[in-house]
Amino acid sequence: MNKQVNETRNSAGPIIAVVILFSIGYAIVRYHIVGPVLWKDFPFFILNKGISLAAFILLTFNFAFGPLNNLGVKMPKGWLDARKAMGMTGFLLVLIHALMSFMLFSPDVYGKFFEADGTLTILAGLSMLGGVLAFVVLWGYNLSFQTHLREDRAFIQFITSRNFLLAAMLLGAVHLVFMGYEGWFNPSGWHGALPPISMVSIAFFAAGYIVNLIGRK
Ligand code: HEM
Repeated sequence: MNKQVNETRNSAGPIIAVVILFSIGYAIVRYHIVGPVLWKDFPFFILNKGISLAAFILLTFNFAFGPLNNLGVKMPKGWLDARKAMGMTGFLLVLIHALMSFMLFSPDVYGKFFEADGTLTILAGLSMLGGVLAFVVLWGYNLSFQTHLREDRAFIQFITSRNFLLAAMLLGAVHLVFMGYEGWFNPSGWHGALPPISMVSIAFFAAGYIVNLIGRK
């Protein structure tokens, strides 16, 4: 009984709670408190931004805690044991983000993604392609932990291999870079001097990617 309790106790709950509170709080401060967005847009448009940031941070933590430990940064056992729950929660948050984005996706909401004739700009097309592919890869990665697939060793070895993970992580970066890089280099346009959410996300990504590059076996 005690053994079972110990096995299931990890730091997932507090880490996930802090990441979600930070992410939604950042979106509220940047867009509503120091920015111009009306509160009526909180439940969908702004919450979607907070959710996507929380998803990105949790997935980065999920991929980076192990390699960080390999590099000699002593990670608490509760944090290492939290990886599965963080990965699953990150994936579910991405699913919510994708559903919300599909519903919001129109020139009236995302003017900068569309040409005057209503078609997607090249940057928006590349960004959305990266997002959709990242989503599908994450889905495949989650599936690989299902027991009935675990017998297919070649598939599991491929999808959990270092090279595949390093390539797959880049899809998330493609989504962010093509969407946001123009705004990253224009600090005068940042609400309350706070960097855009896509930029905060890419900072987490860059740190996580470097850790994976040198620390993943
Ligand atoms: C079907 C897949 C996806 C679609 C259709 C999609 C769509 C979008 C859209 C429309 C935005 C702009 C949101 C805004 O500025 O309000 C966005 C931003 C974002 N997405 Fe996705 N996305 C997808 C997958 C992903 C995935 C897999 C991740 C994370 C791994 C992700 C993370 C983010 C982040 C962090 C932002 C930045 C939000 C901001 O700067 O405001 N997305 N996505």
